[in-house]
Amino acid sequence: MTISAAKGSGALSTADALVVLLFKDEGVPRDYRELDQATGGLIGKALSLKDFNGAHASCHMVYTNGAIRSSRILLLGLGARKDFDQQALFRAVAALVSRFRKAGIRSIDIPLRALPRLKPRPLGALVSGAIEQGLYAFEKYQPKTPEAAKEDKAGLEQVVLLSPSGVDAKALAAGIGEARALYAGVNLTKDLGNTPPADMVPADLAAAAQQMGKRNPKVKVTVLGVPELKKEKMGGILGVGQGSSHPPALIVMEYRNAAQSRKPLVFVGKGITFDSGGISLKPAQDMDQMKFDMCGAAAVIGAMEAIARLQLKVNVIGLAPTAENLPSSSAYRPGDVLTASNGKTIEVLNTDAEGRLILCDALHYATRYKPKAIVDLATLTGACVVALGSPCAGLMGNDDRWVKAVQRAGESSGDRAWPLPLWDDYSKMMESHVANLKNVAGREAGAITAAAFLKHFVGEETWAHLDIAGTAWETTGKAWIPKGATGYGVRLLVDLARTEG
Ligand code: BES
Ligand code: ZN
Ligand code: ZN
Repeated sequence: MTISAAKGSGALSTADALVVLLFKDEGVPRDYRELDQATGGLIGKALSLKDFNGAHASCHMVYTNGAIRSSRILLLGLGARKDFDQQALFRAVAALVSRFRKAGIRSIDIPLRALPRLKPRPLGALVSGAIEQGLYAFEKYQPKTPEAAKEDKAGLEQVVLLSPSGVDAKALAAGIGEARALYAGVNLTKDLGNTPPADMVPADLAAAAQQMGKRNPKVKVTVLGVPELKKEKMGGILGVGQGSSHPPALIVMEYRNAAQSRKPLVFVGKGITFDSGGISLKPAQDMDQMKFDMCGAAAVIGAMEAIARLQLKVNVIGLAPTAENLPSSSAYRPGDVLTASNGKTIEVLNTDAEGRLILCDALHYATRYKPKAIVDLATLTGACVVALGSPCAGLMGNDDRWVKAVQRAGESSGDRAWPLPLWDDYSKMMESHVANLKNVAGREAGAITAAAFLKHFVGEETWAHLDIAGTAWETTGKAWIPKGATGYGVRLLVDLARTEG
């Protein structure tokens, strides 16, 4: 599938369909007058007959019957102008593309119009990002018989974003190129997350990172296996991983494309390839969803892919501790005391609070890079899902400025995050009578106490934590995003690398 930019109103297009963008309860905008006139007023007619009112993400098909060379015009609703923002446009376009993904329409042209607060470059990036998202599907495990495949209608192969006079087609094209690189990362993250856990054990995740490194030679990928983890005294990663026959690892990805003196950003992602809870076994209901417990790691791998493709002039280190949390005769137990690589001892009270135990070693490892700042992403707590649901991730940290920078990157990229407090009161709640720390406190403030635990391992470094338990995968499926991994975090991290790297 290719996306490109050109000039034009659509009146001369030969695409299978034209998509026009309309606000709710408004007439034909100036940018579409030429096209509307060329069709003999078909767009205006649909509006005046009230067959279409522009409600958000609604769609109405008009056949042009030879009036212009394109046979169809798809009217796409942007919703009310007063509610319009980047997200409204992104979701409307993604919903339309996903609906017509296999409708036999091979090519569409989208005549763009001037939209509030959107310059051509971000407009190109946003619309092509939405197209990428609308087209994404994970079908590797749905093999089709040759007969069934034959009956499949053709999918979308070509999209052209048309710029009206006054909109710079070159800037649009630059935005399209950016989105292509970005969504190579987002789609990789989705694929890794969606893969069944038997095919995504720690070694598979490490292999995926290594392949990413092969595709992008600027990214140096190293995998610390069990002997190296022992040498580093990473008792957290080793402890969580010891119950599985698939050994744990720490994946290290180094991208250096700026002066050596420039301090790197370090991204850390939780990579539990399956979280059964371990000896503190989870209930059966929805346990399958715990294949997504490596989505933080997948987001870091995807972000490294995108950053390398974009050739950003930054230094970025990606770290992904990975293990499988299973109960077995070799599994770690409640009551065990683990010693993390920074020497702190941890009393395990619940083997299901394993994410923080692999992250603590990775966060301590991050400090050796003397980073400008650290950000970790983890499907860490059900409590965060209770607090914030799926519209945003939970955001905490030890530096207000950095937390705000992460929040901004989330807002402008579409991967939203919202802050929760992280006062010392919460850190105190993690102190243990048996060891330096315990891995769980009570039920209260579960998302925050988890972050408070992590805070003990970043030393004096600037750090923020994203709890992505509610955002990493979609459980219901929406018009603009199907069930499964969302790729959350890749866009945020890339934005952060751009603005803060
Ligand atoms: N991976 C889970 C968190 C999770 C749960 C993410 C549900 C998404 C949906 C994590 O390892 C976990 O089990 N956390 C426990 C912590 C508790 C034992 C303190 C939780 O949230 O219940
Ligand atoms: Zn768990
Ligand atoms: Zn987990």
